[in-house]
Amino acid sequence: MTAGTGDIEKAAGVLRAGGLVALPTETVYGLGADAENPAAVARVFQVKGRPPSHPLIVHIGGAERLGDWVEEVPETARLLAERFWPGPLTLVLRRGPRVPLETTGGLETVAVRVPGHPVALALLAAFGGGVAAPSANRFGSVSPTTADHVRAELGDAVDFVLDGGACGVGVESTIVDATGDVPSILRPGGVTREDLEAALGRPLAVPSTSRVRVPGQHPSHYAPRARVVLVEPGKVVAEAELAQELGHQVGVFLPPSFADAEVKAHAVVEVPASLDAYARELYGFLRELDQRGCDLIIASLPVEEGLGLAIANRLRRAAGPRPSD
Ligand code: TXA
Ligand code: MG
Repeated sequence: MTAGTGDIEKAAGVLRAGGLVALPTETVYGLGADAENPAAVARVFQVKGRPPSHPLIVHIGGAERLGDWVEEVPETARLLAERFWPGPLTLVLRRGPRVPLETTGGLETVAVRVPGHPVALALLAAFGGGVAAPSANRFGSVSPTTADHVRAELGDAVDFVLDGGACGVGVESTIVDATGDVPSILRPGGVTREDLEAALGRPLAVPSTSRVRVPGQHPSHYAPRARVVLVEPGKVVAEAELAQELGHQVGVFLPPSFADAEVKAHAVVEVPASLDAYARELYGFLRELDQRGCDLIIASLPVEEGLGLAIANRLRRAAGPRPSD
């Protein structure tokens, strides 16, 4: 299952030739291209169906190389990189000359991270350069957490798929803007706000609306085909049964405190009590309910602490704008 040395060499060759490689990371699978090759990067946008103004994350092999990709490494960024890399943290910094504007969507900043997955690190070591990689899904849809998800969604559009098993974290990296004196969280993710604040010794701002210019924050991102409706945990069962009676094929995210409830619905997934496990399973659950033919998914938000912040963010985005927004 997991990629061997021959596969890593082959994947590095594909990147050098300007091709696309799907690679496992600890968060989700990425659709990778040579970050310094504008034509290869253009293919990433094309395959994803993503507008070219939406910047990509550059994956690098080690924190010590950060200076090669950015104009300067401010103290805060150095501290965060040392503490959290390899791992699910992305730092936005001023772009170095090595990074083409195609990769940054025309921005003078660049997002960089060192992924914490052995297969990704082996690929980055063999390739030597930076790998620009968005999540390996079509624009707006659910991110892939297994190689099979990638194959099912992108098929032949990818030149090579490296299989590294199921992703351990399951939600994308936390993106921190570290360009200014006061860092801020642009997207909650696998590194918790609490851990960042402990490392920095200061509180961090987390923008909660779609005003932020981050595509992952736009309405109806991370979305399955089924419509997602969020309700209070205590109303999940009743709302699901009502919608099912009204003729919907309802998929239910059953909150942990209702785990033994009998629900008259089309499909039920039991939300794990542990937030780590929930984050790991979240995208798989959304895909599963789509596959089982649900047209409506009823879910509730977890407490927005620790990984619950990222899970709630993804569920809100999957649900899209409310009528009043
Ligand atoms: O965990 C992850 O971050 C995964 C894995 C593959 O590394 N990647 C990922 O990439 O989630 P993507 O393209 O799906 O989301 C990247 C996010 C986008 O919302 C993009 O707008 C933001 O990063 N981003 C990239 N460069 C940026 C920049 N210079 N300033 C602000 N946001 C940026
Ligand atoms: Mg994405």
